[in-house]
Amino acid sequence: MPFIASCMRNHSWLPERTRAVLLRKMFSILLLGGICAVGFGGALAQTTSPSPRGGIADKTLDARVEAILQRMTLQEKVGQLVQYSAGQPTGPGTGRTDYEDMIARGQIGSLFNVIDPHEINKYQKIAMEKSRLHIPILFGLDVIHGFKTEFPIPLGLASTWDPSIVEKASHVAAMEAAADGIRWTFSPMVDIARDARWGRMAEGAGEDPFLGSAMAAAYVRGYQGSRLDAADSIAACAKHYVGYGAAEAGRDYNSTEISEHTLRQFYLPPFRAAVDAGTASLMSAFNSLNGVPSTANPFTLKQVLRKEWGFRGLVVSDWNAVGELIPHGIANDGATAARKAFVAGVDMDMVSSLYHDNLQQILRSGQATQAELDEAVRHVLRVKVALGLFEHPYVDEAAAPKALYHPESIALAQTAAERSFVLLKNASGAGGKALLPLACGNENIAVIGPLGDNYSGAPQADAGGGARATSVAAALAQRLGESHVSRFKGVGILDGTDEEIAAAVVGAQKADVVILALGEAPEMSGEAASRAHLGLPGKQQALLEAIVGTGKPVILILFSGRPLTLPWAFEHVPAVIAAWLPGIAAGPAIERTLFGDVNPSGKLVVSWPRSVGQEPLYYNHLNTGRPAGDMDLTRPPSDVASRYLSRYIDEQNTPQFPFGYGGSYTSFSYGGTTISRQRLSAAALNKGLSAGAGQPAAMTAETEVTNTGSRPGEEVVQLYIQLLGTSVAEPVRMLKGFRTISIAPGEAKKVKFELRPQDFAIWNDHNQFAAEAAKINVWISPDSAHGSAAQAEIGP
Ligand code: BGC
Repeated sequence: MPFIASCMRNHSWLPERTRAVLLRKMFSILLLGGICAVGFGGALAQTTSPSPRGGIADKTLDARVEAILQRMTLQEKVGQLVQYSAGQPTGPGTGRTDYEDMIARGQIGSLFNVIDPHEINKYQKIAMEKSRLHIPILFGLDVIHGFKTEFPIPLGLASTWDPSIVEKASHVAAMEAAADGIRWTFSPMVDIARDARWGRMAEGAGEDPFLGSAMAAAYVRGYQGSRLDAADSIAACAKHYVGYGAAEAGRDYNSTEISEHTLRQFYLPPFRAAVDAGTASLMSAFNSLNGVPSTANPFTLKQVLRKEWGFRGLVVSDWNAVGELIPHGIANDGATAARKAFVAGVDMDMVSSLYHDNLQQILRSGQATQAELDEAVRHVLRVKVALGLFEHPYVDEAAAPKALYHPESIALAQTAAERSFVLLKNASGAGGKALLPLACGNENIAVIGPLGDNYSGAPQADAGGGARATSVAAALAQRLGESHVSRFKGVGILDGTDEEIAAAVVGAQKADVVILALGEAPEMSGEAASRAHLGLPGKQQALLEAIVGTGKPVILILFSGRPLTLPWAFEHVPAVIAAWLPGIAAGPAIERTLFGDVNPSGKLVVSWPRSVGQEPLYYNHLNTGRPAGDMDLTRPPSDVASRYLSRYIDEQNTPQFPFGYGGSYTSFSYGGTTISRQRLSAAALNKGLSAGAGQPAAMTAETEVTNTGSRPGEEVVQLYIQLLGTSVAEPVRMLKGFRTISIAPGEAKKVKFELRPQDFAIWNDHNQFAAEAAKINVWISPDSAHGSAAQAEIGP
């Protein structure tokens, strides 16, 4: 068994028991073949298959790659594995600065953070004309929620629960970036995020692997199009591989401890979905995973990614992550750091310069093999060839601006924003009428708060472009006329005075209704933006309480890259909308939502905490041996029946709003869940699993949803299951399907989901994906906390 033996060499860091189990698992992988190809991504992720031609999976490109490889010297090979930042740095230090000479010597494979097309052509000309082999430079950038046309942040985009919007948005981003000469984005971030303290929750699709997988695939399809060499395609990079979102205490870059069960069922699936969708690249993460930094982890980088998933693209390290192996404590010098990252499977070194400084010597001394080097270089060249860079290395500088800010791109950004808003609360006032949508008679609106008339959340490429975004106040003034809209900053995001608050209170008193725009500045989420306090920053809470104290109707628009803990607001403010960071069309999207031109349909992709002490908080948790269930946790700690449960003595267990929750200006009622079969067989499910994708449904589940309100509305209908009695404890609920339906007032619509064999597979106590005998609960529900379950059973 040479294959198994060589795999096991990479696992010396695993405990003995795990190694034994792993060995068994490899046998089963060899035997079952298709099981891992099915994975856990669920039905949605499977609908995407790698494009047969024009992507990195296209084997017809390999001959060209080999032809180039054969002509390369050791120095040139290493050069392809070296990347530097040549513009605005997005991390500490930039490696070095003599890029022009290095490119001429074939010592650089990729540059990033260069945004000016003229600069891009300048560097490219050196590569194409002065370097010996004329291998083009691959230019990258963090194109995360748009290049210039700014879309909602990824957390907002995911809140649409609409992969097709994500695909279209990322296609616009690709079109704009490619026209500028950038052919590689470090996106999508597909890290599962269960802790709102972690600022990078803003950059991902939330806490669920099923939804996260659907979004990961959608981003890849959008960026890469049907062919990577199309003029409007760019290479995607799924990041940060892997487990980065599980940073302990939500502190960015912190260590992670993730069991293989949790890794396989929760953290890996979105990466798998990105790979299946054909992503050209992956980025290895900063974090250590069970003691082994992700940038030197042969288990995740070689065993899982290359051997099990068959990934043929490029793995780039995160910013200086190779150098950071030293402070991590697994290398005492740069040469060791470079060797460990390289042999673990990191192809390209972002910024640290340690591959440039050490790899040739590492190869010469036999600490890494020529075959390993060639394979890494192949991964880089394959992406460059697939992108058509050899044929079209230059960007048309004159044409570049023409791709930007197309009216239809801005219209799409507005639709995406409108669909990303989550209506958290819309209480009825006197007369039983909800505050939102606003009636046209609200002639005098006070827009109060630091984010009411000043919105900027522009992506990196759009320096100053935030100025293009229309604010809420400006959009309202356009609709109603300037004289009907008064503006008061109240306080800044982090600062403010009592006098400013008093002035805002006077303004509120004169208005019919107040729009209060509060929350976080864009730089308070994202990288290096962990927060230990999740309330409103600065003096915004004081402003909120003062304005609500006027007795005027208040609508709170929350701008943030994460859920904020605002129990006072949810108790005292009649209407609250989570707007995230909505992008270039923030103002009009909010204005149209306030007046009911748009009926909110976004739903939460993260559990919204009541207090920071609940974090990490996620709906798909295990049950514990002492679940609190429906117990009233407001009973005093002296109450024995409720005391010895898995609970807090000073906070509820439940979130403020559950995963999947979102309101509407209409109302929906759900019928019961009916299922097509009460009994399944584990053997038959496992046969289906090993047969691979495209298997018929093992069970269907159906319900009827009725629009019981007076407005047309869109509803994201969700399918969850729970498995009980399995070899390994499984979550209380797991999302396995979702669908958005439009329903007219009074109309009822049937919604049917198919559950396939892989939807019942778990990572079991034999460390393999398989279905097991179990009891099953199946819910079709409006969110992760409601609905009535249908019961079924999986027999042997
Ligand atoms: C971030 C990555 C990013 C890279 C390049 C790092 O600090 O973690 O997500 O792609 O910088 O800007």
